[in-house]
Formats: sequence, C-alpha cells, structure tokens
Amino acid sequence: MQTDDQATCQKTDLSKSPGTFCVLVGVTGSVAALKLPLLVSQLLQLSGVDVRVVTTEHAKHFYNPADVPVKIYSDQEEWKLWTQRSDPVLHIELRRWADLLVIAPLDANTLGKIANGICDNLLTCVVRAWDTSRPLLFCPAMNTAMWLHPITAQQVSKLKEFGYVEIPCIAKKLVCGDEGKGAMAEVSTIVSIVKQYLPGSDESM
Ligand SMILES: Cc1cc2nc3c(=O)[nH]c(=O)nc-3n(C[C@H](O)[C@H](O)[C@H](O)COP(=O)(O)O)c2cc1C
Repeated sequence: MQTDDQATCQKTDLSKSPGTFCVLVGVTGSVAALKLPLLVSQLLQLSGVDVRVVTTEHAKHFYNPADVPVKIYSDQEEWKLWTQRSDPVLHIELRRWADLLVIAPLDANTLGKIANGICDNLLTCVVRAWDTSRPLLFCPAMNTAMWLHPITAQQVSKLKEFGYVEIPCIAKKLVCGDEGKGAMAEVSTIVSIVKQYLPGSDESM
C-alpha cells in the first residue's frame, strides 16, 4: 500500500534518494535567464547532485524548457496540484526537498519582493517559507542604472541580514548595450560556489 509520502512524491516528482544533495534553482525575468540551460547542465555534472527549477512567468521568456534537462515548476503547477485538503502544497514540498536554493538570476523585481517579504508566486513563496538554516544563494542581475539605484544596496543588505549569500554581479557590456556592473556572475563561478556547500566538500560550510 502506498504511503502519503510516496503519493506526494509521485504527484510532485520530488523524490529524494539517500545521499543526494538537492539543489533548487530559482530563475527570474532577467535576460541572464538565457543561461539557465547551461547552469542546470553544469550543476548536474556535480557528483551526487539532483536539480529542479522554479521559474517566474517572466523568466520563461528567456529560455526554451526543452533545453533544460530537469523538471521546471511554475505558478500553474502550484495551483493545479492543490484541489483538496489532502493534496500537497508545492512551495512547501519544494522547500522540504531542497538542500540549497540558488536564485540565478535574481532580477530587481524579485529582489525587492524578497527583501520585503512579498510572496505572490511560486518562487517567492518558496523563499518566504525557506528554512534559513539551509543555504540560499542569490545572483543579482540587472541593468547598471538599476544596480546603481540606492534601493538596490539596501535590498541586497536586507537579504544578507536574513543569512542569504550574495554571489555578486560583475561588470561587462550588458545585452542592452550599457556597460558596467549588473551582469550575473559567470555560471562557472556560481557552480563553484554551490560546490562548496556539498557534503564532504573540503570547503563545505
Ligand atoms: C528583454 C528584457 C530584459 C530584462 N532584463 C532584466 C534584467 O536583466 N534584470 C532585471 O532586474 N529586470 C529585467 N527585466 C525586467 C523584468 O523582466 C521585470 O521587472 C519583470 O516584472 C520581472 O518579473 P519576475 O521578477 O517575476 O521574473 C527585463 C525585461 C525585458 C523585457
């Protein structure tokens, strides 16, 4: 006979094998979301790592889901999944499943929402329900003018006060043509920082 846990895993596709480190990638509506397929494929190359993605609606504009080799969850799944009391609540199941959350890219809009506790979509609900003893990494990505606005530094500091770890943006020529700070950190940098959190890693935190 199937247990409630098994039924939930089947409905959500969030089974967890012993010894596997579960990485949840949050993706928001920055042009840097173009790099989602590369980020996921590089994370999957880390030994013992399983990956899932939570996307905002605007992020979907920037990547082709067929290029992402793992399950992608979005707002529709959250609402489709719950029709009665015994059904799983997806944002809670995702926070239970994930050992680490990396939001890459984190755009200005979702940065502002998280800094203020707003939770109006699947990703921000996962963040609001996050177990703060687990690592949450965030990779800001935005136009230089947005980055330089004084509210950005305030909101980034707020996230750091919550215990979240910033993977700083870098300066380069942005897709919009402007040059300066605001580009998402390189995928190789993000993956190497995630690697530091794997159990057994020399640099494990
Ligand atoms: C082509 C395009 C590129 C964008 N790139 C960025 C970006 O790099 N960073 C950012 O903060 N916002 C960017 N935006 C604006 C966000 O997509 C917008 O604020 C959106 O509401 C974000 O929604 P989300 O945070 O729910 O994903 C871009 C918008 C467009 C149309």
